[in-house]
Amino acid sequence: MNKTQIFDNKQDLANYFGELIYERSRAKDTLSIALSGGSTPKAIFDVLAMNFQDKIDWNKIHLYWGDERCVPPTHDESNYKMTVDHLINKVTIPKENIHRVYGEKPIQEATSLYIQQLKKTLPLVNGLPQFDIVILGMGSDGHTASIFPYQIELWNNEDICVPAQHPESGQARVSLSGKIINHAIETFFLVTGKDKAPKLDEILNRKGNFKSYPASLVKNPVWLLDKEAAGA
Ligand code: 6PG
Repeated sequence: MNKTQIFDNKQDLANYFGELIYERSRAKDTLSIALSGGSTPKAIFDVLAMNFQDKIDWNKIHLYWGDERCVPPTHDESNYKMTVDHLINKVTIPKENIHRVYGEKPIQEATSLYIQQLKKTLPLVNGLPQFDIVILGMGSDGHTASIFPYQIELWNNEDICVPAQHPESGQARVSLSGKIINHAIETFFLVTGKDKAPKLDEILNRKGNFKSYPASLVKNPVWLLDKEAAGA
């Protein structure tokens, strides 16, 4: 059974999500969040920075990434840089709470360093690092994090983090795998834009080729959608 919430626009979705992060952070000493990249989170982070700068105790928040492009942290395509520009530079979050992927390093080294960082800084539950919250986006091809349909087998990799590659650009990516994503306490898809509607319809209604889309492999996510993505 899918849990789905539909919003008029990205701002309403962002405010809802900000309140949710605020509520979850009040109940805990620390809150670990794996962030997604791409354009949707930009609007979410802008709202978080603007409306929750003083409301959320950012000392409690630990930020990670669900995937990262293998580029330097100053590169315009870096998910880390996007988060710095739209959120981290605008809130008082301690630098030791930022756990980025070292995208500037060779991909195998970046992947193994991130695995070590996850194992060192997250609580281990049944031997696996566990996030409190994982935020995921979905591409119009049904990918999530950087697990793309043509590499869907990476989802079930035995490692919690895998080297991947964008199908069109060939860009090297480091991505969390299903093993750690499906181990999180809560997982939220934040999906906006009408280009997502066709695959979303297949996934939410378990029809067509939904099984070939990595986003369909996420267990029990909450879907936070704008009207366009929901086809409303
Ligand atoms: C990335 C993301 C990726 C993204 C989807 C949706 O690094 O690009 O992690 O999985 O979430 O491609 O991106 P948009 O929100 O830009 O549509």
